[in-house]
Amino acid sequence: MNSQKLHIPVLLEPILNFISDIEGPIKYGIDGTFGRGGHTVAFMQKFPELKMVGFDHDQQAIEYAHQNYKDSLDSNNLKLVHDNFANIDAHKNELNEFVNESEQKKFDFILLDLGVSSPQLDEASRGFSFYHDGPLDMRMDQRLEETAADIVNNYSEQELIDIFKELGEVRRPYRIVKAILHDRKQTPFTTTRQLSSMIERVEGWRKKGMHPATLYFMGLRLAVNNELDVIRQSIPKMLDWLRPGGRLLIISFHSLEDRIVKWAFKDLQNQGRIITKKVVQAEQQEIQQNSRSRSAKLRVFERGISGSEKGKKI
Ligand SMILES: C[S@@+](CC[C@H](N)C(=O)[O-])C[C@H]1O[C@@H](n2cnc3c(N)ncnc32)[C@H](O)[C@@H]1O
Repeated sequence: MNSQKLHIPVLLEPILNFISDIEGPIKYGIDGTFGRGGHTVAFMQKFPELKMVGFDHDQQAIEYAHQNYKDSLDSNNLKLVHDNFANIDAHKNELNEFVNESEQKKFDFILLDLGVSSPQLDEASRGFSFYHDGPLDMRMDQRLEETAADIVNNYSEQELIDIFKELGEVRRPYRIVKAILHDRKQTPFTTTRQLSSMIERVEGWRKKGMHPATLYFMGLRLAVNNELDVIRQSIPKMLDWLRPGGRLLIISFHSLEDRIVKWAFKDLQNQGRIITKKVVQAEQQEIQQNSRSRSAKLRVFERGISGSEKGKKI
């Protein structure tokens, strides 16, 4: 594999350790959030026998992978799926074809590294960032119909309040929502700068180092991509794709996501055990090298042998 131009994979060392600790041979893995393939490359280097499936719903991520991981794709050690990992069951036939017949639906591990990648954030045309002016888009999957601009220009006052309060965790979004309703009558919102400068004007800078639009943008991004529902629905499905003793590893960057993962793992304890009694976070050294790792939280769940294996080591 060509390991040039990768974005830095977070919490790589603990993740490799959690995978090494899986009992039995490590032959098949799923990377539900392939991105630039940073984690997948490291897994394939560490476990030379490993065959990986990479999901990404972003066309650009899939194109990048086709250009950069040609050898692994040609040798059938890597398979790419251009879809949301929530739709994994719809790919049953092709995934089962990828593994040996006796090992269908028996992956050794699944990684979900949630949220957006650095290239998505950095590219103005994707519309995620208030630092780069671009279309107010925020779709990770370009096939989705509704953009952030559609939400801002068409949703009702109450719907916008709900998004900013529940997903953005803004305590009092009322003035901003009023300003959106007022401004959009004159000129619809089309760019990230238009929205972020309005928020800056109405809200002002309250917290040093944190742009006043941060939480509003976060709420819109989660709404556009339906990210929280996707995680909620996917965790039990993912477990079904693991062999007994296989592990599901989830990295989240947002407190609402982490809460969902934490409670979903608790609810599933009749099907396995939680490996990370305490959430795993980046060490100071990693944070210095990669500031994105600062908010990363890793939780790991191990599938048990049967439904009655509550809390038991395999
Ligand atoms: C944080 S990045 C992953 C980076 C990757 N681990 C690496 O080291 O290069 C998240 C990636 O997953 C994709 N993604 C996020 N949610 C997804 C979902 N529900 N289904 C498929 N892909 C998703 C995004 O498009 C993005 O490319």
